[in-house]
Amino acid sequence: MNVDVLLGLQWGDEGKGKIVDVLTPNYSVIARFQGGPNAGHTLEFEGNKHVLHTIPSGIFRKDAINVIGNGVVIDPIVFATELQKLEPYNINLSERLKISKKAHLILPTHRLIDAATEQAKEDKKIGSTLKGIGPAYMDKTGRNGLRIGDLFLPTFVQKYSDLKDKHLRILAHFPDFNFNLQEMEQPWFEKIELLKSLPCIDSEHYLNKLLKQGSKILAEGAQGTMLDVDFGTYPFVTSSNTVTAGTCTGLGIPPTSIKKVIGIFKAYCTRVGSGPFPTELNDETGERMRKEGKEFGATTGRPRRCGWLDLVQLKYAIMVNGVTELYMMKADVLSVFDEIQLCEAYEVNGKRVSDFPYDVHSLKANPIYTKLPGWKVDLTGLQSYEQIPEALKNYVEYLEQQLEVPIRLVSVGPDRAQTLFK
Ligand code: GDP
Ligand code: IMO
Ligand code: MG
Repeated sequence: MNVDVLLGLQWGDEGKGKIVDVLTPNYSVIARFQGGPNAGHTLEFEGNKHVLHTIPSGIFRKDAINVIGNGVVIDPIVFATELQKLEPYNINLSERLKISKKAHLILPTHRLIDAATEQAKEDKKIGSTLKGIGPAYMDKTGRNGLRIGDLFLPTFVQKYSDLKDKHLRILAHFPDFNFNLQEMEQPWFEKIELLKSLPCIDSEHYLNKLLKQGSKILAEGAQGTMLDVDFGTYPFVTSSNTVTAGTCTGLGIPPTSIKKVIGIFKAYCTRVGSGPFPTELNDETGERMRKEGKEFGATTGRPRRCGWLDLVQLKYAIMVNGVTELYMMKADVLSVFDEIQLCEAYEVNGKRVSDFPYDVHSLKANPIYTKLPGWKVDLTGLQSYEQIPEALKNYVEYLEQQLEVPIRLVSVGPDRAQTLFK
């Protein structure tokens, strides 16, 4: 019938994992369309916390099929570790998890190249998660990559060896970078067998057939719009298209099948890794947000940079994604503040700028803030949207006015149950 898309509007970690898990009962299929083990999607229910990297966040719900689309890059080792953590849940993986034959593989040498190039960048580091994402996508677009379907070819080992040799020639340019490839290769080849034991399919055919039969699909984004390789704060971005358009190329579904585009954002902003962040707070307030929001990376454990909500950035993300509804996350984290600030424009060279600029990294964009009263109420036990305090209602209405898109959900805690639909 149709595809709904759920994606992050900021710099990742908006709470996509939690919301996909909440929404899964409404869909037959949950499909990841880009990214890979750089993602860390957290779900909480029944007192347990789960972090997924490659596996879609619908995996804990009984009836949904989870598809890893062609746009994803897979590291067999990370994938195997994720599967192992699912073992206690007795999920019938051969029925509930399917992998596109066109998804690309992350080789051990991709991880090495990621690490070697980051190390060589010294103070210009992107802050990559070092999972081999950039080098794997480079080989994909450079037409050298290995795909899941290749695992079943008699020529696979030869193909692997050819690509590895190419990578070793690249690594020879980094004489200060030491590594032990053999140690990495052995588990990689072991875990490949596990990958091969799961259904590896022509996922574009599979998904389109389901659409024809009337099934509903939820496309799960990874990272966030400001990390998109085209529209993010380049070069401090990831190597895939994280925006709505990425759903079509990453799953093989037509643009006309997309119905809702759900844009998810935190009530403030965070970023992990380097790169521009106009509303970043390097002060006590930023520290308070990090502490209250437990803002530490789900994949790398790094502290996340924190700042006030940036409407210039958010409007830009809504525009490039064609967002039809908004979900606001982590409203509970702001309960400690007397006053909430919102960036409505930037001041650049004495001029007011309201369109997100091309070169936000090289110019000094000073945020122009407006202030709204805080709500100072613990929200974490609320059961329905009607119960939210007046000041939060005003905050939501103010944002809807500014962003011109309805906010349909407010999240007030990490658990499945702490979700207020409007
Ligand atoms: P994702 O990458 O977009 O799936 O987000 P992450 O899982 O990396 O980061 C979001 C973090 O916030 C996780 O630790 C979630 O458990 C947590 N979280 C999600 N929603 C809420 C919320 O409404 N309130 C609070 N306090 N935490 C939340
Ligand atoms: P989820 O799906 C937050 C950031 C990294 C780095 C840059 C490039 O959990 O929201 P990469 O490893 O892709 O080469 O890193 O992108 N980054 C993320 N930040 N959440 C993510 O995913 C991220 N995936 C990559 O920190 O700055
Ligand atoms: Mg994350």
